[in-house]
Amino acid sequence: MTRFYKKKTTAMEYDKKRFEGQGGHIIESRENENVLEMLGDLKGKKVLDLGAGTCRYSIQFASKGAEVTALDMSKEMLKIGKEKAKQKGVEDKITFLQGNALKTGYEDGEFDIVTALRLFHLVSDTEGLISEMTRVTNDRVLLDFFNLYSLRMFYNKLLPMDSRLIRKKKLVKMLEKKGFYNIELKRDFLMPYGFYRFSPRPFPILYNKIDKTIGKTFPFKRFSSVIYLGGRKS
Ligand SMILES: C[S@@+](CC[C@H](N)C(=O)[O-])C[C@H]1O[C@@H](n2cnc3c(N)ncnc32)[C@H](O)[C@@H]1O
Repeated sequence: MTRFYKKKTTAMEYDKKRFEGQGGHIIESRENENVLEMLGDLKGKKVLDLGAGTCRYSIQFASKGAEVTALDMSKEMLKIGKEKAKQKGVEDKITFLQGNALKTGYEDGEFDIVTALRLFHLVSDTEGLISEMTRVTNDRVLLDFFNLYSLRMFYNKLLPMDSRLIRKKKLVKMLEKKGFYNIELKRDFLMPYGFYRFSPRPFPILYNKIDKTIGKTFPFKRFSSVIYLGGRKS
């Protein structure tokens, strides 16, 4: 974990900084849409959410009927997640676990679905994380990452959390090496998160329009800053 995520203030400000305001709301709603659409029916599924943070996805998965384990290295992030889950009435459907996503300690194939959302950019051992995800699932993985070939490259190095950009081909190859050939790919955010977060109204609405129109077309699609990868064993 980067030093950034060990700080108590990071946990306290995480949701507010990222998902408040016009830009933040658009980001969160489009991310949710992308992830939930790719996962489909979650009823009765056993889900491991790696790098769960303040549990925004874990809570959604639990609300959709999944039995969730939210794992994160930061006790502070999980504490906030637990409070949020309590408010949403799904606390008893989530197991909150402080731990390392690279070494979860679970048995092979213990989960139906393993997710890692907004986690890959923080982990230097990309292959190790793919290995652990593919080991502990009996069926599917879903992850997202920041695309090397995107506008994010212009400000990524300035961010405080030591964020990494990744080549899509590299991750796809790693998944295939683990026997995950059934790969689903979704691209979004030609206009990276920073544009949404730091621009005043009404710019986020304009970016949203750009993303939903030209952002979905060739060749712009190739330069989306976020890529979601879903993989299946079967
Ligand atoms: C950007 S936040 C994402 C949180 C959540 N998935 C979301 O999308 O809002 C990344 C989280 O990953 C956690 N993290 C970073 N490295 C980790 C590791 N090796 N094992 C477990 N958690 C880790 C951090 O503590 C932080 O809470």
